[in-house]
Amino acid sequence: MRVDIVTIFPEFFGVLDVSLLGRARQSGLIDVRVHDLREFAHDRHRTVDDSPYGGGAGMVMKPEPWGEALDGIVGESSTLVVPSPAGAPFTQATARELAAREHLVFACGRYEGIDQRVIDHYADRIEVRELSLGDYVLNGGEVAAMAMIEAVGRLVPGVIGNPASLDEESHESGLLEYPSYTKPALWRGRAVPPVLLSGNHGAVAEWRRAQQIERTGRVRPDLIGGE
Ligand code: ADE
Repeated sequence: MRVDIVTIFPEFFGVLDVSLLGRARQSGLIDVRVHDLREFAHDRHRTVDDSPYGGGAGMVMKPEPWGEALDGIVGESSTLVVPSPAGAPFTQATARELAAREHLVFACGRYEGIDQRVIDHYADRIEVRELSLGDYVLNGGEVAAMAMIEAVGRLVPGVIGNPASLDEESHESGLLEYPSYTKPALWRGRAVPPVLLSGNHGAVAEWRRAQQIERTGRVRPDLIGGE
């Protein structure tokens, strides 16, 4: 998979060199390139923002630098991802969909967002997804893009050594994950649930399923048709 990121803060993405995704980059499973939007602004101050038409607070990112940057990156088979608190929710299902794409381009906006014509222009040509990480506002798309790249990248075949470990995670089954325990069997007076030491695989599976249902109902009733 190829991933391009356009941002005014390229240094934000240094963390992609570490951990699992760093290995995936080194092994060539995911080819990530970061581009500085300011290189596509040609005035003396390399201006990328301006005041909003119609008035209001904050600044809007100008369309010209975005157009020039993206024209050099996107192709017919690219998907343009625009992180935005006004986007559709980014979920595990979205991550699965994006993991099947060959080329993702992340456009990280700052300030009050990117001039809407940029999104509309590319939406006429390629797949464009405006996606929100959650119902809260970040200072820009960088942290959201990073979270999305991690969620998508770990689903790319080969990135996670044991793909079975992906199946039992929170949100894959529509339920939250069951609680996990490891040695020692007794820690600070707290015992591991005895069923997990029983060696009875059927009983373990049943207990885990019951835990998933209980936890989901308590913490995320919305996932199972509750409030
Ligand atoms: N940019 C600012 N806030 C955001 C959010 N909640 N999700 C995605 N991108 C954002």
